[in-house]
Amino acid sequence: MTIVLTSDAIREFWDQGFLVIPQICTPQEVDRLCDVYDRLFAQRVGWQKGDFFDFAGPDTPESPPVLPQLLDPSRYEPSLKKIAFRTNALAIARQLLGPSAELVFEHAMLKPPRIGAETPWHQDEAFYPIYTNYQSITFWMPLQPVDRLNGCMEFIAGSHAGPVLPHRRINNDPRLHGLEVYGADVSQAVSCPLPAGGATVHHCRTLHHAGPNLSEGPRRAYSLGFGVRSRAFTLRTEFPWNAVRTSARDQRADEAQGAIRRYMSHLRKTARAILR
Ligand code: NI
Repeated sequence: MTIVLTSDAIREFWDQGFLVIPQICTPQEVDRLCDVYDRLFAQRVGWQKGDFFDFAGPDTPESPPVLPQLLDPSRYEPSLKKIAFRTNALAIARQLLGPSAELVFEHAMLKPPRIGAETPWHQDEAFYPIYTNYQSITFWMPLQPVDRLNGCMEFIAGSHAGPVLPHRRINNDPRLHGLEVYGADVSQAVSCPLPAGGATVHHCRTLHHAGPNLSEGPRRAYSLGFGVRSRAFTLRTEFPWNAVRTSARDQRADEAQGAIRRYMSHLRKTARAILR
């Protein structure tokens, strides 16, 4: 199936900063993805490297994660590179951003039954590290029906037209990975309930949020980000809330990457910034 957006839908995306896509993959694919999720999350693959972490909790081996998240899940399950969600999302991303749009990130999230934590209001761009060279749009696909009981997406229409707003670590707790915006008006939120295998797509500046999972079942969701990479850096200054790497996840990732490689990559990026 190839999804072709109408010109009205494309206009709606750029007016509102988000769009609902009623179906982006088949029920059979959703079933298979549920099995993949349950296996990857039970095994906590990628924990040591910091690819698996708790977005909203202290993320120690002793504390059960309240919002476990896995970066780059297709690295651990290569069959995810071939799914209809990915093909369709790329096709739609190219209709919204142009033919050179490409995949720039990939996340799997699972909110456990009854304890799955809220994803606080934020803009995705607030997570960008220095020297990011794209602006992204994010497709978010639930693997079961979602509504406000189990944490569907909510958006502030038109917020993508404004600047990146001040963010901080959740509850201002430096141990936590996730960010929350503060001082933003989120009183006019638009909730987007969806069937399994439906999706929302939003711009990296669009304020969004998902409530806790208060239901009896897991709330699984899959995010794919697409952008058009440019030769110039979109972000030349680190956001202050990202300058300090203090979460348990940061520390695992830094250790896995190694100090020398980190220094070399810093040198390369600085050289590129000076030479351009
Ligand atoms: Ni987000």
